[in-house]
Amino acid sequence: MALRFTDDFIDRLRDSNDIESVIAGYVDLRRRGKTLTGLCPFHNEKTPSFTVYPDTSSYYCFGCGAGGDVINFVRHIENLDYIEAVKLLADRAGIKMPDDKVDDSASNLRRRIYSANREAARFFHETLFTEAGKGQLDYLRRRNISMKMIKHFGLGAAPDDWHALENHLKSKGFNRDELVAANLLRFSEKNGKRYYYDAFRAKVMYPVIDLRGNVVAFGGRVLDNSKPKYINTSDTLVYKKSNELFALNFAKNGNERKIILCEGYMDVIALHGAGFENAVAGLGTALTPEQVSLISRYADEVALCYDSDEAGQKAVRAALSLFSKTGVRVKVIRLQGGKDPDEIIRVHGKEMFAKLLNNADNDTEYKLSVIRSKYDVESSDGKVNFLREAANYLATTDSLERDVYAMRLADELGVSKDAMLQQIKQASKREYYRKTKSEFQNAQKQAQEMEKMVDPQRVKNMRAAKAEDTVLISLFNNAAFYKKLKDRLNNDIFVTPVNKQILNVVMSRLENDESVDISHLSQFLTSEQTGAVAKLLSKQSMVSNTLKECEDCITVLEEEKKKREISDPSKMSDDSFLAFFNSLKKED
Ligand code: CTP
Ligand code: MN
Repeated sequence: MALRFTDDFIDRLRDSNDIESVIAGYVDLRRRGKTLTGLCPFHNEKTPSFTVYPDTSSYYCFGCGAGGDVINFVRHIENLDYIEAVKLLADRAGIKMPDDKVDDSASNLRRRIYSANREAARFFHETLFTEAGKGQLDYLRRRNISMKMIKHFGLGAAPDDWHALENHLKSKGFNRDELVAANLLRFSEKNGKRYYYDAFRAKVMYPVIDLRGNVVAFGGRVLDNSKPKYINTSDTLVYKKSNELFALNFAKNGNERKIILCEGYMDVIALHGAGFENAVAGLGTALTPEQVSLISRYADEVALCYDSDEAGQKAVRAALSLFSKTGVRVKVIRLQGGKDPDEIIRVHGKEMFAKLLNNADNDTEYKLSVIRSKYDVESSDGKVNFLREAANYLATTDSLERDVYAMRLADELGVSKDAMLQQIKQASKREYYRKTKSEFQNAQKQAQEMEKMVDPQRVKNMRAAKAEDTVLISLFNNAAFYKKLKDRLNNDIFVTPVNKQILNVVMSRLENDESVDISHLSQFLTSEQTGAVAKLLSKQSMVSNTLKECEDCITVLEEEKKKREISDPSKMSDDSFLAFFNSLKKED
């Protein structure tokens, strides 16, 4: 086992980054007895199932199954690898990283990709002001992008050349493999030979910057009407486009906790140029749940600014549905006087956009207008049906909104406000049960699917898996049991690969009288396995922590092992086979 950090170091790291305050930086936590709960940052939910256990320095989400120690948390929420997460926590607490070399080839490559990207961004930006970038600069000028915005976003030019970037980056010491890993260089293969070429040629370049200020990707736009309009960095070790938003690095700094979500790079740049510095955009994919979670970390209100065409309205509906699973309020901007914010600002000025933003329907108004358009409210049938559906919808909103709109609709359509409220109240009871049930079921389903994927054996061998859990939890709590059980404890009585792996690490540590705290185990486990340890820790109350219980569980595991062998004699050890054979003879 390659030891990377000493237990002492991990202890210091854990003790000076107490899990409660680290997680509180991302999640609004409420104390509930010995634990804290909040809305899970790793899946979208409205009722909290994310739990922090200060006692064991761990967290576990009963909804989606995410779990681990403080390092694993930082790793996932910041999208880092193990060593980078340790570094971040060390920095946070002002602890010096150990000097001795650690095995971090994966994080080395990530670091190389970050610096290749940074160097590429610099190269593209400088090229914009040379002969090779003249077409690109003219293009940006034609589109009214000011020099200030060009500098602010670090816009650039990829020259019309197959190898300009490659040559430049090689002169800076990068090799081809690194550039391919960064997706700056691509290759085609012919007769077993690779032909490399720059991924971006003759393009206006938009760098994508993550929340920590790293250049993680690029979008490159053609200068004419040819297709495809954009070439984008595909996913790399440092970039997952479904998890990033263009310009969130700037937008997150606004102190209003409001975000404008629009469709493209150009919209964002035009909006920032006009003073709307809270505009962000997706990166050429439909809005994802990850992006929605990300936004909910920085905003209480989001204004959707999508095209008014059919595709744009479909996107609005999908976004409303994703945001409805969070506490973020949504407003829908109805774009008029241009097809996108870029055009509206260019043609009518920023005041026009400010007005549209101001007049934006909140999601309730938007939804009600969509519902209304389905009925003929002049007819009494249409009116009744509209009001019924509107009541069902209003049942999903908060009580203030309900009041406001019940009154408004009652007024507009000449019915009594009390009748309207009564209708909503009934619908809201049904809605409450429906929502709680479905949220829970979805979360459970997600957790089960996750489990099936990570640990298919578990589902097939529940009895054994539960016995394994008990043995492991008991060992976490009672290191002294180990010496008494070790003769019967070998990992082939365990069936589930995840628990088996945990047992291996636990045994080798207990054998050396080392601690089995989750934060000590986590560096020897994958992030999923660390999550499984956290899950076990969350089930503490199910074990009685007696040696007898452990022994019984081991007996169960031995029995289960025999059963498996009987159903598949080829898996038997010689001894068991002999016993099995003799028992058959007796039956004859
Ligand atoms: N996009 C993409 N690939 C394409 C087309 C679009 O990745 N072939 C993504 C880009 O992120 C783009 C966004 O979808 O910014 C919105 O597309 P569109 O509205 O067509 O582009 P704009 O950014 O508005 O570009 P422009 O105004 O320069 O035409
Ligand atoms: Mn556009």
